[in-house]
Parts: sequence; C-alpha cells; structure tokens
Amino acid sequence: MNKKLSRRRFFKITSMGLAGTCLGLSGVEAWAQRMGGGGGGMGGGGGTGGGGVIDPPPGAPFANPQLMPLTRDGNLVTVNLEAQISPININGTVANLMTYGYRDASHNYHGFFPGPTINVRQNDIVRINFTNSLPYTSQTNLLGYQKNITNLHTHGWHVSPEPPGDYVMYDLMPGETYNHEYDLANQGAGSFNFYHPHKHGVSAEQYWAGLAGCLITEDDLTVFSGMDTKIMVLKDIALSGSAPSPHAMMSDYMHGKSGSTVMVNGQVNPVLTIRPGQVQRWRVLNASNVRHYLLSLEGHTLYLAGADGHLLDKPYARSQILLAPGERVEVLVKASTTKRDYKFLSLAYSWRGNMTSEQITLLTMRVTGSGASGAIPASINPAAQRLNPNSLEIAQTDVLALSMGMGNGYINGQDFDVAPYTIMSNVDTYEIWTITNDSGMDHPFHQHVNPAQILSISGAPSSYPAYAAMPAWKDTVLVPKWGSVTMLVPVMDYAGMAMFHCHILEHEDIGMMGMWHIMGMG
Ligand code: C2O
Ligand code: CU
Ligand code: CU
Repeated sequence: MNKKLSRRRFFKITSMGLAGTCLGLSGVEAWAQRMGGGGGGMGGGGGTGGGGVIDPPPGAPFANPQLMPLTRDGNLVTVNLEAQISPININGTVANLMTYGYRDASHNYHGFFPGPTINVRQNDIVRINFTNSLPYTSQTNLLGYQKNITNLHTHGWHVSPEPPGDYVMYDLMPGETYNHEYDLANQGAGSFNFYHPHKHGVSAEQYWAGLAGCLITEDDLTVFSGMDTKIMVLKDIALSGSAPSPHAMMSDYMHGKSGSTVMVNGQVNPVLTIRPGQVQRWRVLNASNVRHYLLSLEGHTLYLAGADGHLLDKPYARSQILLAPGERVEVLVKASTTKRDYKFLSLAYSWRGNMTSEQITLLTMRVTGSGASGAIPASINPAAQRLNPNSLEIAQTDVLALSMGMGNGYINGQDFDVAPYTIMSNVDTYEIWTITNDSGMDHPFHQHVNPAQILSISGAPSSYPAYAAMPAWKDTVLVPKWGSVTMLVPVMDYAGMAMFHCHILEHEDIGMMGMWHIMGMG
C-alpha cells in the first residue's frame, strides 16, 4: 500500500510540474487557479469550455441498447458477462473501446457500447459470472495503478455489499472470472440502475473507454403497461486515433474527461419516432464521466416519473431537468399533435468554475404516423412516500465535506489512498448525512447499497428537480459547487463494507471516496 502510494504521489508531482509549465505558472499556482474555478479564460480540454452549439444532422433510427441473454430457472437467473476491447463505430470512426458483452454458442465474443441491458425481476437471485478479457499489461496509468485490472459494481441495487454480492474491493486480473450473486428480494418498484467498473485508480479510464450498461429490475406495477419504453444511455467521448483519448494529464483527473461526441446509446443524434398524442416512457442514464446534461425537449413538457432507481408517487411537470453524472430519471413525454421534428437538447450548463458547456442536440424526436390518445397518468407509484425524519429515531448524523487540492480529492480532508474517511453504521437504523462542497465544481455524491431521501439542497439551480419535495429515493445527488445537501439515510437490510464517493469517477480515483462500514445487529 505504501509503495503504491508514494509512486502515485511521484507521478502526480511530475505531471503537476508539466501542467504548470504549459501555463507559464508554477505547478502550485496552476492548480490553485484550476481548483478555485477562478481561471475564467482556461477552456477545458475535450471540447468543453467555450459554450457553443453541437447540432449534428439527424442520424440513424433510435435503438434501445442490446439486451443481455440470460438463462432462468425459476427465480434464479444466470448471466455470463465479459469485458473485452472491441471495435465500435463511433459516428463513422471505428474505435477500439472497452466493451461489455457475451459469447455466442460458438464462443465468439460480441461487445456492445453501451453494455447490454441486464433485465431481471424483483425477487430474482441473479448470478453474474463476470470475466475480465481485457488484455494483460504491466503498464500503469498516470496515477500509478496497473491498467486493465477491473471489477464489477451494480450501481443502485439494494443488495449485500459483501462477497459474492456488490463487493467492489476485489481485483479481477485479465483472464480471471468472478462469480457474483445478488438477491433482489428488497428491490423497489421501477428500478433503473446500471453496472460499471469500480477498481479504484482505474475506474475513470475504463468507464470513459466504454464500460457501462443498464440494470433493469421489472416489477408488477401496471401503470406503464402498453407504454412504449425507451432507454437512453447518455455518454460522451473524445477519440485520439482509434482509441478513447487517454487520461494523460492531471487536469484530466481534476476536471474529469469530457468529449464533444455526445451519444444516446452509442449513436449521435438518433431519430426517435412517436405518434401524435402518444405517451412514451424514457429512462435516461447519465453514464458520462463529468458531463452534466440539462435536458429539455423542444415544444414539450417533461413529466418526471422516477428518480435514480425508483418511481415517484406521481409525475412532476418540468421544462428542464438537470442530470448529473451517475443520476437517472424516468420521464414521460406526450407528443404534440403537430407532426414535425423536435430536438431533445442538453442546454448549456456550467458544472465547473466559469466553464460553460455546449448546447447539444441529443436526439431528434419525430412526430409522425397516425394519432394516438395517450394520457400522462395521474399517479405512478402510490407506495412512494416521504419519510419524516422528525418521527424517526436518528441513530447518528454525519458531515461529509468534499474538497480538492494538489491533485487529490478528499472527504473531510482524507484521501482514500491514505486513510479513507469511514462511517460506522448499524444496520436497520436511520441517519442524517450532510454533504458539503468546498470547491468551485459540482460533485455528484453517490452512496452504495442504500438510497436516501433528500431533505434539503442549497446552491442548486432551479433546473435541478426539487427532490427535497418529492418522495424520491436517491443514490446519487448533485452537491452544487460551494453548496450542500442534507439527506435521510435508512441503513437497511445489509451489513458489510460499502462505499460512498463522488461519481465523477476521476475524483473517486484520486481519493474522493470513503468507506461505509455497516455493522450487523446482535
Ligand atoms: Cu456508480 Cu460506486 O458507483
Ligand atoms: Cu454505485
Ligand atoms: Cu467530484
């Protein structure tokens, strides 16, 4: 541990010096300027920085991500998932991405970007046999971590954090398989979650290179029966040659990687058709490293029906929805009766300092065909309710201060690599956590295993849904620059070692992560 640590520091100091030289400042001044968000003139790399508009011509027909084949025996589901590098067409350029996929009957690997959707049901026992087929290399990344070691995390699943469940502290070497097993007995209704690598030190580069896929847990709710459901995985990339542009500078870790090729399910500006008056259900995941999406649909209202892994009590009408990295929303859309194209946009937004992102056309919604008589339902999930912290016994309160400096990320001043900040909790209790952001950049805060209810947010723009006024269950929440979030955290059902961290995975890799030690009773 200590050896790795000092090597990591060495790499950081070296690259800090380089960054400083480029800017004609000392490394320390350059970092101070970047950290404070005060370096107004400094455009970010990878296409963000100057605002502008990305409005590609309408592309291929919209398609949901590939479905993952699985075998079922009663409620026991088995999935054979593999990670491997494979060629993917990115807007006309064939690039070697890291993909999730599977083998066919003749053992040929099929990799997908985004990864195939694993679709299971409440009360299933899910076995995911996960094989790392990334090539072996002894190379280390900029932080000093050996590349292509990976593992698997089921983001948003309320399952045990202990092996063989959602345990993310293992190293899966190239060539190895890990047999996970997850019990979905306690999943809520309308669970829209996702899976991705969680190997500390290399998670950001693997996620950026393509590793993310959806996890859907079907339930018995009937409100959406007969409704056309679309899954939208939002991911951006920048290529260098035929590979994802590398995390080559410490600023890539401090800012997070973003690119100007912005895709929905791996496609640039796909065309989604809808009939006049039809209602569709859109399940939207922000699987980007750092890009925040400010969603808005020309000429239409977005009806927010679900937040992260759970459905809301009823639809909430919104003109804009800010979606931070790692967050999911379910929105209902009722098409206009005027047949034409409408742009589903991500409007300009500033998640860091004075930087402003581009306005991006994510997809084109084409109203066409014969009329339909869809209606936005009045109620979605009547079981969704807000808990009242005043009527609960609160076992403990905690304050988590997120900060950055000198190439590191911290929680309460502690870097994960040196001494992780640790919360000790008891299972089946309630806690209140306040997360503060002591930096000029938004940090989407994520905790594993137990979703929380938001009690208050300070500093968020009005485009961020008022989760503190909804029966929303959040596992990822925007902690706005210089702002804070207070949330009620039920610590339910599962003891073990879980984590919490910033979902800009670069920040997680440089230390903005802590341990959540949940102790069993008795
Ligand atoms: Cu989606 Cu611990 O992460
Ligand atoms: Cu997670
Ligand atoms: Cu962060």
